[in-house]
Amino acid sequence: MRTPIIAGNWKLNKTIAEAESFASELVTALADVSDVEIIIAPVFTALSRVSARLTGSPLRLAGQNCYPQETGAFTGELSPLMLKDAGCSAVIIGHSERRQLLGESDQLINLKVKKTLATSMTAILCVGETLEERQADQALDVLARQIKGGLAGLSAQQMLDLVIAYEPVWAIGTGQTASDEQAQEAHSFIRGLVAGLFNQETAEACRILYGGSVKPDNVDGLMAQTDIDGALVGGASLKVADFCRIVRFN
Ligand code: PGA
Repeated sequence: MRTPIIAGNWKLNKTIAEAESFASELVTALADVSDVEIIIAPVFTALSRVSARLTGSPLRLAGQNCYPQETGAFTGELSPLMLKDAGCSAVIIGHSERRQLLGESDQLINLKVKKTLATSMTAILCVGETLEERQADQALDVLARQIKGGLAGLSAQQMLDLVIAYEPVWAIGTGQTASDEQAQEAHSFIRGLVAGLFNQETAEACRILYGGSVKPDNVDGLMAQTDIDGALVGGASLKVADFCRIVRFN
């Protein structure tokens, strides 16, 4: 059995004070949840203060990005070790906004994944096709390229600390969720890729989250799919009631 993960990607939102009080509200509202792993990813500047609010709660903290070096002349960047130092135990890597707006390649993303795993943190690797790619019937090819590129050189043992998030770009922030069937098809395809790259056991254990306009009113159908093991939530993670309802999916 794969323990579900519900992760909130706060993106570029909330000041330190807002993030702290929001995190405290979540800790109180979700205190009784024990069967779902909950992760929140605030902006970097809020991490250590939010981490203090999570003390004693099962909520985990994640960075939204990292750089694949520990220290050095890399102006503006942060290493997984620094994120760990701020209280994080996971890092979101290769989000489509970074792939698109900042030109991140599969090769760079692979280095980030490796550095994160080498720091004993969970890597949340994001993949997903654009609308043009889906319309051109290239969605599965794109997923195969991103999965093979992102996971290159990893061992089956390292895969235990890696989570995949399938986020079709056309569904992110658009209110247009993939249908349960579309999401299940992509997830099952990704699980097959993991089986081919590693082995069946690794594929069965690997958690694959869906992301892209997950809301309280569509989470139940998505979570009912065999290969959907959780959600990476953007917009709806910024509202306590919505995020809590998603965590408490049926
Ligand atoms: P959304 O974002 O839920 O607002 O679509 C998801 C994501 O980008 O991780």
